[in-house]
Amino acid sequence: MIFAARFAGKVMVVTGAAQGIGAGVATRAAAEGASVVLVDRADFVTEVEEAIVAAGGKAVSVQCDLETYEGAAQAMTTAVSAFGRIDILVNNVGGAIRMRPYAQFEPAQIDAEIRRSLMPTLYCCHAVLPVMLGQGSGTIVNLSSNATRGIRRVPYSAAKGGINGLTQALAMEYAEAGIRVVATAPGGTSAPPRRVARNPLGDDAQEQAWMAEAVAQVTSSAFMKRYGTLEEQIAPILFLASDEASYVTGSVLPVAGGDIG
Ligand SMILES: NC(=O)c1ccc[n+]([C@@H]2O[C@H](COP(=O)([O-])OP(=O)(O)OC[C@H]3O[C@@H](n4cnc5c(N)ncnc54)[C@H](O)[C@@H]3O)[C@@H](O)[C@H]2O)c1
Repeated sequence: MIFAARFAGKVMVVTGAAQGIGAGVATRAAAEGASVVLVDRADFVTEVEEAIVAAGGKAVSVQCDLETYEGAAQAMTTAVSAFGRIDILVNNVGGAIRMRPYAQFEPAQIDAEIRRSLMPTLYCCHAVLPVMLGQGSGTIVNLSSNATRGIRRVPYSAAKGGINGLTQALAMEYAEAGIRVVATAPGGTSAPPRRVARNPLGDDAQEQAWMAEAVAQVTSSAFMKRYGTLEEQIAPILFLASDEASYVTGSVLPVAGGDIG
């Protein structure tokens, strides 16, 4: 079967849609026919919405903090108010805030990594379930990472291991309700400078050195010995989100040049 406009008539919620992989997923899905709901706590998420609408697509944006359950609930309520249903949820919010050996993490910094890279996805999966169960269908694509086997960011690695467990268990629990749950595990990805930094406090010289060690490990662990591009991350996410992947669930697809995380 050939899918010409893979997302025609579909409603897709993308979290962390103001920049990076999330903005790219939303923009391309809209170009392929999706009505997209762009969720981010950065106010410039409206610029992605404006660009999609200017190109003839359908989009709304919602500004909220997905580290709170209220934020996740607000995102889903906004999507249903705007477009009446949610066919696809892409849980993209996440990212290591700090790079350092585990012994150097302060307890509050460990908590912050889990709040950033696990809780938004846990909350959004829970908040979307009543909608998808009511429809009898839905697809959830989570963003994991090759960092599940990597250095200098153990709390983030643990959060992404949590994403893998969530993906598999949720898929098992809800497959017969018509809901697919899948994930990609990106490797190092080249992107323009971030408008919202992962660590708003900035990195000192020691932290930059630890970051360089992580980058060297990520690059050498990839068979291809290079970072991927944004496009190389976006395409597999959209494949898994589409009906082309209708018999795929509970899978975490490494997208890391041969590194399996
Ligand atoms: N970029 C990479 O090299 C890479 C590698 C492996 C995995 N990943 C994963 O891919 C995903 C996207 O990565 P990226 O580099 O494109 O992200 P990014 O850091 O460039 O952007 C993240 C977006 O999420 C938003 N955000 C963060 N916390 C939020 C919150 N609590 N509520 C609402 N919005 C929030 C930010 O404002 C930002 O727009 C993440 O889950 C990341 O862990 C990325």
